Amino acid sequence: MKRVLITGGAGFIGSNFTKYILSRQPDYLVTVLDALTYCGNLNNFTQDMWENPHFTFWHGDIRDKEAVDNLMRQADVVVHLAAETHVDRSIDNSDPFISTDVKGAQVLLEALRRHSVERFIHISTSEVYGTATEVPMTENHPLNPRSPYAAAKAGADRLAYSYFVTYDLPIVIIRPFNAYGPNQYPEKMIPLFITNAIEDKPLPVYGDGTFTRDWTYVEDLCQALDRAVQVDIERLKGEVINLGTGVDTDINTIAKIILERLEKPQSLVSFVEDRPGHVQKHICATSKSKVLLDWSPATELPNGLHRTIDWYLEHPEWWKRLKKEGDEHVPV
Ligand SMILES: NC(=O)c1ccc[n+]([C@@H]2O[C@H](COP(=O)([O-])OP(=O)(O)OC[C@H]3O[C@@H](n4cnc5c(N)ncnc54)[C@H](O)[C@@H]3O)[C@@H](O)[C@H]2O)c1
Repeated sequence: MKRVLITGGAGFIGSNFTKYILSRQPDYLVTVLDALTYCGNLNNFTQDMWENPHFTFWHGDIRDKEAVDNLMRQADVVVHLAAETHVDRSIDNSDPFISTDVKGAQVLLEALRRHSVERFIHISTSEVYGTATEVPMTENHPLNPRSPYAAAKAGADRLAYSYFVTYDLPIVIIRPFNAYGPNQYPEKMIPLFITNAIEDKPLPVYGDGTFTRDWTYVEDLCQALDRAVQVDIERLKGEVINLGTGVDTDINTIAKIILERLEKPQSLVSFVEDRPGHVQKHICATSKSKVLLDWSPATELPNGLHRTIDWYLEHPEWWKRLKKEGDEHVPV
């Protein structure tokens, strides 16, 4: 039995991971701490989860020292996912990104000093690398964040590392590449493309659509995070681990697969002005996650996209309300 505290568990990856761990590790006690920003959504939890006595939801902010202290006192494992996450929003206003992503991480790390937690899994991002200067991108790739979001995440990533070095705390830093799947807020590129295509609206593609990312289906990512919870902490302590597929795919290809699957015309693709600082290429070096976590993603992109499309087709009530609230942005 482990007591797992998941910050940001009402968001996209967090809710998928909470669901995953409750179903795979039935003896675990799982608590989610989430501030329910526009991206956090209680509808991401199923009825089964609410009825599960091993699941607790705590509405609160990671910057609230008292709440964090109380929750960490009762945790064996912390998986820290809470963050402001949308690159475009960080370009409009970086304040909440610095505050939540950096300061919030510091509040959690300070609490970690006071409590004997078995492990703290810090979720960083591949965005900290910036555009690939060498491929595939290993964990030693230089950090050249190209947006305020990426820079805030890089700050938190290195802060977490410094707490490992300085205080010898059991911290693991995970850098996922782009994730996609059910319950992703429809401002992000793949759900925006899918939901726009369903509604016969244009798919806004930045620049000429040739920039690439390494895309991981969220269930595979959850499996890797579960491995990070299970593997002997002495093997993981202080390590940085990329999570990705080792395959990169450009945006035009993603748009094409989505439109074909939904039987919509390719003419829905609409090229829009590129955003400043746009990362051109991302491709993950996967050997470290194979060795340390004994993990490789199982889902190939077309299959994962089809499953994601099916989920959005089956859950219009989930995304239509969010889009109506006016939080539609141009994509990541
Ligand atoms: N989605 C991706 O492709 C991707 C890739 C790499 C890394 N990541 C990282 O994974 C994590 C989760 O990403 P996501 O896509 O699920 O994000 P998301 O935006 O869907 O969810 C973030 C969650 O954090 C919560 N939150 C925000 N500020 C908070 C605060 N101050 N206190 C408590 N909760 C707060 C939100 O309510 C939301 O539930 C983030 O750290 C992100 O940087 C995401």
